[in-house]
Order: sequence, then structure tokens, then C-alpha cells
Amino acid sequence: MAKRSPEQLRSHRWFGVTDLRSFGHRSRTLQMGYAREDFMGKPVIAIINTWSDINPCHAHFRVRVEDVKRGVWQAGGFPIELPALSLSENFVKPTTMLYRNLLALEVEELLRSHPIDGAVLMGGCDKTTPATVMGAISMNLPMIFMPAGPMIRGHHGGTILGSGSDIWKYWAEKEAGTITNQQWNDMEAGIARSPGTCMTMGTASTMTSIVETLGLSLPGAASIPAVDAAHPRMASLTGRKIVEMVWDDLKPSDILTRRSFENALMVHNALAGSTNAMIHLVAMAGRAGVEVNLQDFDDFAQKVPVIANLRPSGEWLMEDFHIAGGIRGLLSRLAPMLHLDERTVAGTLRDALEGAAVYNDDVIRPLDKPIAASGGTAILRGNLAPKGCVIKPPAAEARLLQHTGPAIVFDTYDEMTKAVNDLDLDVTPDHIMVLRNAGPIGGPGMPEWGMLPIPKKLLKQGVRDMLRISDARMSGTSYGACILHVSPEAHIGGPLAAVRTGDLITVDVPNRSIHLHVSDEQIKDRLRTWSPPPRDYPRGYNKLFAQHIRQADEGCDFDFLEGSGGVPEPEIH
Ligand code: FES
Ligand code: MG
Repeated sequence: MAKRSPEQLRSHRWFGVTDLRSFGHRSRTLQMGYAREDFMGKPVIAIINTWSDINPCHAHFRVRVEDVKRGVWQAGGFPIELPALSLSENFVKPTTMLYRNLLALEVEELLRSHPIDGAVLMGGCDKTTPATVMGAISMNLPMIFMPAGPMIRGHHGGTILGSGSDIWKYWAEKEAGTITNQQWNDMEAGIARSPGTCMTMGTASTMTSIVETLGLSLPGAASIPAVDAAHPRMASLTGRKIVEMVWDDLKPSDILTRRSFENALMVHNALAGSTNAMIHLVAMAGRAGVEVNLQDFDDFAQKVPVIANLRPSGEWLMEDFHIAGGIRGLLSRLAPMLHLDERTVAGTLRDALEGAAVYNDDVIRPLDKPIAASGGTAILRGNLAPKGCVIKPPAAEARLLQHTGPAIVFDTYDEMTKAVNDLDLDVTPDHIMVLRNAGPIGGPGMPEWGMLPIPKKLLKQGVRDMLRISDARMSGTSYGACILHVSPEAHIGGPLAAVRTGDLITVDVPNRSIHLHVSDEQIKDRLRTWSPPPRDYPRGYNKLFAQHIRQADEGCDFDFLEGSGGVPEPEIH
């Protein structure tokens, strides 16, 4: 590959010319204490840092960014740290999903408006991965994603605890009265023991694994625990690599193809990855101009076995996965089906797998001893979800995968909460709980409400799973027979809005159908007189959001952000 010259760098327009403005750019860089030889003629590397004081998953980014910078300096680049919206999954309300596109927009414009030649994206907590990647794909400068890495294992009283998953589990036990308040309080101190992202195969690790598979992170990066000494080494290596990529002009458009997204779809299933990925991957592909739709998830789920034995679908945690070989180990198992000639930030996927191995066959199963032979995710369609909805069958009790039962319908989260706490609620284990008005616009932002709590009355009877249907999402660390992302959502008049308590619903996962036993005529009739609860945002970001958000099956991007390019370079006057 022909190397670019310093004059061909994008930053040359700011620093390299001899006009009045460039005098200002140079003198203001000198003002920060840099010498001319620190930056003149060098690739300027943006380090997009999603650190904040209220994001525990990214707590180490404040110092880790120095490791990235060290690598950039070593390779002859000029690092510039640019802070971006942190999107802490735990604290941002109503849901980080409301702001994924805002961060994507911010990243794209940060890169466009500054003298940047290439970017390192520091993210990991759920939405920060797709958001930063989406923005950088649209800007199409050389970039590498540097994952935050998972936190170390949790534990309590000798029992291993996994982020999210085990808390849902023990909350149900607490509600059923089988664990004490003291035990519950002790878990608070034991479940999150270090910086880093959730260490189950939730949305964070699903997305960082997918991004590595797409070729946008250095091989092996996704599973390194945040506090492992290998993490700062990976950070500095990333800094060195991005400088080389700028000279080579290796851009996302050179890396992302339909085939690289097919690799990601395979990995998603092999991991029994988060359902949230079904929104994010569609959106990321949309930025890259590659067609990926919901059906692709189902198609690849039929071809690829679930081989990662990780919670919430399996037993182990990310630290175990890392020691067992990580994503490279998993990819080496999937190699016979992968497109190995796809490019990555460092050669081809085949190069990335050189020497990759699996060191624990229970954590990363051989193809012939999978957790599930197929079907990590399924897409259902029918009169209740004409554009599809999503279920993760391995995370559900098998008896519920073909089931008919009466609906019990909730219009709001509060109404649902009251009901599930009511010990006299008219509900049986055969009922199907329905929550609506929780979609992209109705939520707004599709909050993670889709794992509706089992009614207390049933918990006390020993029931731990029930069919639940919503236009919401659920946390990637959740589990159970939850049917999510019903599209179109109720708020815009999807058929979910027509369901009434007592209506029969049939869910048939093997046949991929979801059916409301109400005639088309009657559904139409009911929708004529139905109106959604008001969602009135007269101004501000919520207004923009409601006007431009796409439905779940389309990736929930803003219509005006899809694709890449097309925006002129800023004028420098
Ligand atoms: Fe940040 Fe789970 S809360 S990754
Ligand atoms: Mg999550």
C-alpha cells in the first residue's frame, strides 16, 4: 500500500499551510506547550474518550487514555484527547438508548470540525460502542475502537455473581422470600469489584466482540479485563497502530463489507449475544451502506451453534472467557464458516487468528458440543408484529416456546409495577404479560423494560419464567421468555396497541410466529378508537428524536444520519 505524505494529511490544511489562520493554529498549539516538531507533519490522532465521573465502567479511561497517547507518540503521531458524552448505562435516564444517536452525532462532528487524521474510540459501556463506531463510520477517517474491557468476576459468600443476570435472579428470590435482606445488601458490595463493563455476555461484551469481529479493534482486545496489565499494553498498541493506519489511509469503508457483517452475525449467535445488538448492528451497517436486516439474525442463528458458555445463557463470565482464549479463540472455532479474507485494522481476519486457540472446552465449546445447536435468537412475525419481534430462545424455559395464553395488558410501566406487586392479581403461569408504549417513540428511547418482573403471587408459587411481550428492549444481561422490539411499536399504531386483557395470543418459536386471536377487522376497529398516551415534547432533543427516530427493525438510527459521506469538509478561514 502506498504511504501518504504529510502534505496529504487532513490536518495539513490546519497546520501545514502558510496563511493567517494556520499561524493561529500553530501558535495556539505552541501555547499548550508543544514544540513544532511535536505536531508539524504528523498524523493528528483524536482519542475520543467517553470517561466521566459517573460512569463506573469507564472509570479507568482517565488514566488509560495516557497509554493510548504513549502509543501515538511512539509511532510519530500527535494525540489529542477529545471527551465525548459518556452514556453510563446505570445512571442515564430514562435510558441511554435515547442518546445513542446523540453520541454518534457528536463523534462524527468532533472528527469533522477538528484537525483530525485518525481516531481511537474509547468506549464499552453498552451504547458507547455502537454510538462511537456509527459516528466514526460516517466520518470515514481511519479509526480503531479500544474497548473498556469487562470488570473482574463478582462474588458473595463464596458464590460467583455476574453483572445484571444474577441480580435479576436474586431479586426474584428476595421477592419470593428465599434470601434475607442482609444477603441482598451484601451482594451490593460484591457484584461490581473493579472498573470495566458488565462481565456477563450482556450488551457491552456483545458489542465489543462484534466490533472486534468486524475488524475495527486490534485482535484479542475485546475480552481483556479492564484491570489486567494487558489492557494498557493493548491501549498503547492501539495508539501505535492508528498512526500506521493514517499513513496507509485504511478507512472503515475499506474494512466493512457485507461479508464482515456476516462474520459479526455469526459471532452474535455463537455468543448468544444481547438482543440489543439486533438494533445496533443494523444501525452500524446502515452507516456503512451495507444491508443487514432482522431476518439475517434468524438465518445465521440457524447455521451457527451457540458455543460460548457465558451468562446469562450459560455459566461462565468474561474473565473466564478471556483466559479460555477470548474472541480469537471463539473465532478459531468458527473459522470453517467465517469469511477469513475480510480486512481488519491489522491485516486479514485470517492473520488475526494466527496462533489463536481455546484453552477451556467448557467455556468455549467445540462446534459438536454446543450450548445450543442453533437458534441463539429468533425473529417472530405475525399479526401482532408485522415487521418482526425478537426472542432469545436459549434464555427461556423450553415449555414457553410454543404456548397459547390469555393476555394481561399494561399501558405504562407504573401500572405494570403496581399489578405485579398485587398478591390478588388475576394471573396464572399461563398468562402472557404485555407491556406497550415502551418503543422508540413511546418510551421514549425503548427503555430496557422488556423483562417484566414475574408477578409476586406467582413467584411465591415457584414460577420463575413467563411469556412477556413488549415493544421495549431488555438488558443484555436479562433472560427469560421475553419477546421484545415488537415492530411497529404501539405508539405509532402498531397492532400491539389493539391487544386487550383476556385476548388469546399464540407464540410459536419453532414456526417463528406470533398470533393474536383477534380478526384483522377487529384489530382495525380497535385501532380506530385507540390513541397513545400523550408524548408531548415541544422543544429540545426529545422533539428532534421523535421526529427522526426509525423503528426497531430499522436500527433506531435518525433518518438524517444514515449512511456516510456527503458532507463537505469544513472551510478554514
Ligand atoms: Fe456499563 Fe453494563 S453498566 S457495561
Ligand atoms: Mg446493559
